[in-house]
Amino acid sequence: MNKYVIGNWKMNGSWEENSLLLNLLKNNINKSSKVKTVVCVPYPYLVQAKGLLLNSNISYGAQDLSTYNNGAYTGEVSAGMLADLGCKYVIVGHSERRIYFKESNELVANKTKIALQNNLTPIVCIGETLEQRQSNQTFNILEIQLKAILDELTNDQIPNIILAYEPIWAIGTGQSATKEQAQEVHNYLRKICLEYNKISPSILYGGSLKANNAQEIFAMQDIDGGLIGGASLIANEFLAISNSL
Ligand code: PGA
Repeated sequence: MNKYVIGNWKMNGSWEENSLLLNLLKNNINKSSKVKTVVCVPYPYLVQAKGLLLNSNISYGAQDLSTYNNGAYTGEVSAGMLADLGCKYVIVGHSERRIYFKESNELVANKTKIALQNNLTPIVCIGETLEQRQSNQTFNILEIQLKAILDELTNDQIPNIILAYEPIWAIGTGQSATKEQAQEVHNYLRKICLEYNKISPSILYGGSLKANNAQEIFAMQDIDGGLIGGASLIANEFLAISNSL
């Protein structure tokens, strides 16, 4: 199973800040590690990431993509364009996109398919709200979100995605899921994936992962790495998280 530590910068950064951060990451990353380290940066900085990460063992990717391939879709960025820029990864269906931009399970499934068709690895996010967790709907909601995507893929494609379990109540709140809560969900998601293909995709945990909790969470059997927001903007934190896997 591939192991990943993936940074989601969200809408943060500037040319100067990124340059500092990327150079620190590139110069201090453990080069013998088997962990795949990735940064998902805002669109305008993909070119900068491409230049600075050349010949490093850090990959870069985007945070969203269009469902259209090209044409009159003002403001959209296609999967082909991302591939053209050397991206290998793209985040799909992050809860912030589902919530603020009303992305449906159907749209997320569509974006996942388009990413795969363009040889990008989609990092597909699913997660429950606090209300859903408190009313014991977590597994039901996650199953609906996950199957909406898996049902749209061929069984052969399923191991080629990366799944990210990101409980919405843990994102940016400083309150991570406990290792037991995360493991319980990951094991459930794994079983669903294995109903489609005997090879499971990697399943990452995301939500307030920091250097001080990454190790215990990564030690759980069904957790294959992390998707990191806030802590991915701080070189030492992100490197320490990567070294915890
Ligand atoms: P966080 O965000 O690490 O800041 O909680 C995670 C994410 O949204 O991917």
